[in-house]
Parts: sequence; structure tokens; C-alpha cells
Amino acid sequence: MSVKILMVCLGNICRSPLAEGILTSKLPKHGFFVDSAGTGTWHVGNAPDTRSIATAKRNGIDISHQRGKHFKPSFFKEYDYIYVMDINNYQDVLQMAKTETDKQKVRLILDEVFPGENLDVPDPYHGVQLNFDQVFDMLDEACESIAKKLLKKQS
Ligand code: 4NP
Repeated sequence: MSVKILMVCLGNICRSPLAEGILTSKLPKHGFFVDSAGTGTWHVGNAPDTRSIATAKRNGIDISHQRGKHFKPSFFKEYDYIYVMDINNYQDVLQMAKTETDKQKVRLILDEVFPGENLDVPDPYHGVQLNFDQVFDMLDEACESIAKKLLKKQS
């Protein structure tokens, strides 16, 4: 059975598609399934933001096939780990949790790099390409740490 990891942001077109693409690139295909979703519904069915696609492509990752999904409470059962990009996502997702096990699956993704500091991955939607590149670097570091941890657990 695969370990299933979900990346969550607000729109599911800027940050979480990048996180999905980056973590996927760091894990073997067999044994892991990485996906992403948004707490908002505006971009359901849409491809990622062109600026996220561009920043990923420059780093050798293709995220253009991804399509926006809305976070559903059933995802708590489906996924083993749920990484959220900021404190608003954290609160929105946690509100839908029914059990302590559900709650414990949810983590702020930058806690992987800066434990306990409650740092947000800033939303680049209203920003410029540079902001997307900065988000890529933050997520790359966090996903490196997540991948190492997951691979160690499996060995
Ligand atoms: P994301 O960025 O949460 O990183 O995908 C956003 C994209 C779109 C919107 C908000 C945030 N929006 O309001 O449409």
C-alpha cells in the first residue's frame, strides 16, 4: 500500500501544486502517492497558475497536467499526511477534522524546516514571478526534509 501525502493551500493553483510536483520528484514512484487540494472552490478543474508552471519547469518539474481540487473531509481518511501552506489553511482544514487522528495528520509544511515557528508559505497569487521562485525554494527545502523522513521510515 502507498503512503499518501496531500498538499493543501487556498486556491490549489499556486503553492500546493508546486509542493505536489516537488515532493513527487523527490520520492520513488512506487510506494508513494502525492496530491494537492485547495480549501477554496474557485479553481476546481483548472490548471496551475502559469507562473507556478514556469517556475517548476525552470527547475525541471512539469506540473502542467495537474487540475484543481477542493479539499473534502473524506481526505482525512484517504491521506496519511496533510501538509498545509499557511495558518489559514491549517484552521480551515482542522475545522473539518472529526477525530484526534484526523487532526494529527495536519501539519504546517514549513514546520519541517523551522519546527514550532508557525511560519507561512506566503501566497504569491497577487505577486510577481520572483515571489513564485521564492516559494519554490521554500517548498524545495521543506519537501527535501519530508522525503528524507518518509524514506527513512520505509527502510
Ligand atoms: P494558492 O494561491 O492558495 O497558493 O493557490 C491562491 C490562488 C488563487 C486565489 C487565492 C490564493 N484566489 O483567491 O483566487
